[in-house]
Order: sequence, then structure tokens, then C-alpha cells
Amino acid sequence: MADGFAQGAGLEGPLDAVWQKLSRQVTPLEWRAHAPLIEAINRLKAEKNAVILAHNYMTPEIFHGVGDFVGDSLGLAREAARTDARIIVQAGVHFMAETSKVLCPDKTVLIPDLRAGCSLAASITGADVRLIRERHPGLPVVTYVNTSAEVKAESDVCCTSANAVQVVEWAAKTWGVDRVIMLPDEFLARNVARQTAVKILTWKGRCEVHERFDAADIAEIRASWPDAEVLAHPECPPEVLEAADFAGSTAAMTNYVMSRKPKRVVLITECSMADNVAADAPETEFVRPCNLCPHMKRISLQNIHDALLNEQFEVTVPEAIAERARLSVQRMIDLPPPAKPARYDLVKARHHVDVELL
Ligand code: 13P
Ligand code: SF4
Repeated sequence: MADGFAQGAGLEGPLDAVWQKLSRQVTPLEWRAHAPLIEAINRLKAEKNAVILAHNYMTPEIFHGVGDFVGDSLGLAREAARTDARIIVQAGVHFMAETSKVLCPDKTVLIPDLRAGCSLAASITGADVRLIRERHPGLPVVTYVNTSAEVKAESDVCCTSANAVQVVEWAAKTWGVDRVIMLPDEFLARNVARQTAVKILTWKGRCEVHERFDAADIAEIRASWPDAEVLAHPECPPEVLEAADFAGSTAAMTNYVMSRKPKRVVLITECSMADNVAADAPETEFVRPCNLCPHMKRISLQNIHDALLNEQFEVTVPEAIAERARLSVQRMIDLPPPAKPARYDLVKARHHVDVELL
């Protein structure tokens, strides 16, 4: 049916491969709407020398249909830093587009919907960071990339969930201190603190998607699917990571599934993640309790198409802020990339966790 449908729609050729991949994730009816948009977007990209950086939480028709570079926040920032394209379309949320603009001030960076925000980025301002610094002079500020450029500009170095332990330890060593300020995700900070001897001062920011999971969810999953391997994102509360079999960034979760090919798996994270990995891992069954990110879900094939066609909505960062934010992001990018995406070592996790809320 897959081949017949693509041919019936008159869209055989390059799109046939996309349909083969998506045929278990989208219905033929959905494909009939998606296929012409995918074709038009890919044509516009070539005409305008544009690339699409698509986060792992994009829906499968975006992720597999039009993404030129797909991955986690760290991977997308690295790709933004190296692309020669004239236009970057960020299929993700606003802080990701700002990060691309900070790294590529001469390129046009577009986001298909300016309202695609993030509860973590909204939890803290540049003025908050200045106040924290006044109260804790001499301590380095490690800032999660899920923040505005203004907050990054007030920080010393950025991190993502893929490299947070490495960055915290680098900052403590470089500043010659035993404590660092890590903003703004309380749960990420608590999960990182379990992996390092560095003491962490943090903020009460939360990811509205991951904070909703709890240990009872994992217990329920284990009761219903005893053979399922449970993978959790480190923005989840520590009790969730304690109950999981593995924790890591979205790229680390993908890597786990693709390399270990578990028979059955549960990804404790945003819903599209499982759809995207499942398209590449037909031998694994995905159990699907998940939470939707309303911000990521603002991005669609239609608004990506309109973004490219009308070159909207341009994301800009004042150069005075961009220059200082660039230093923080570049310090992170310049750290050696891990040989494979970092995992949170749950077995060796420290039991004494030193975290203070600011
Ligand atoms: P990573 O892709 O870096 O794991 O981040 C997850 C996330 O919540 C991005 O908004
Ligand atoms: Fe922000 Fe959470 Fe959505 Fe990521 S999943 S964009 S951290 S609200």
C-alpha cells in the first residue's frame, strides 16, 4: 500500500523513501496533505540556499521529511556553527533560533512561529542572573541552553543535558572553586549533582513537559510491561531517573535504541521523540506514555513552508548581547565532544547530593 499510495499521489521518486519511513507513523490521509508541502519546502530550500535544523521533538513529517540536520540541542548548535547556508530555519523553539543567530550573526535565522517558547527559558531573566552574581561573587555561572540570549550573555558557559556534567566540572576546575551556579533547571541540576563532587546552586526553573512525570508513572509502566526498558530525559525529577534504566539527552536516548535494539522501550520525554526513533527502529516496540510540548508543537510543515517562502519570522539578537552570549555558547562548543552521547550513570550515582536552591 505504501508504494501504491505514493505513486497514486504522483509523488514517487525522492519522496517515496520518506513515505516508506513514515508509513507506520502517519496515515495515508495525512500523507496526502504532507507530501506536497514536503516537496515544496525541499524545493524552496534549494532555491534559497536554506537549511532546516530540526529538533528531536519535531513531528515525524518534519523530522524525516524536511530536516537537513536533526538532533538534540547540542547537535543543532554545532550544526548552526558550521553551516554555509544563507538561511537557517529553526524547526524548534525560540531559544534554539537565538542560539543559531548568536553563532551565525551574518545569516538569516527564521522561526516558523515566534510564539514557540519554553517554560525553562521563561523562568529566568538577565536581571535575575546579575542579582545572583552579586550575591555569589566569584562563582562561575553555567547556563542551560534553554534560556534567552540575554541570560546567556550574563553567564560564563552554556551546557545542554548532553554535556552538563562535563561543563560543570570544567567550570569548577577553570575557576578553581568547589561550587558552581547552574541555571535555570532545578531537576537537571539535581540530576547532574548526583554525578559529580561539585556543589551546585540552582534555580527553580522546570520543563513543563518533563516535570509531570513521577515515580508512580514508572511503577505503572513496569507493572504493565515488565520487559520494557525505561529511558528518561534528565529534565525529569530525580525520582524518575532513579526508577529508569537509562537517562540521557534526546540524542543519547536515540543512540541507546539504535545501538541496543531493545525489544520494547519507553521514552519518558516529549511524544514525537518515540515516533521519530520508531521510524528508524522497526524491530523495537515503543510503549507510549508521553507528554506533548505545546511550544514544539507550534511548528508545522505549513508554517515552515511559509517561513521559507516569505522569509519570516526573522530572529535577531542585539550585537551587544550576542557578543557576550557567543562567548558562553562557544566555550561549550569548544569543549571536546563526547565519543558517544553522554549518559547519566545511574548505577554509580552519588547518594550524597549537594544542591542549594537560589
Ligand atoms: P535535548 O535535545 O538537548 O536533550 O533537550 C531536550 C529539550 O527539552 C529541548 O527543549
Ligand atoms: Fe522547553 Fe520542555 Fe518544551 Fe523543551 S520540552 S522546549 S525544555 S518546555
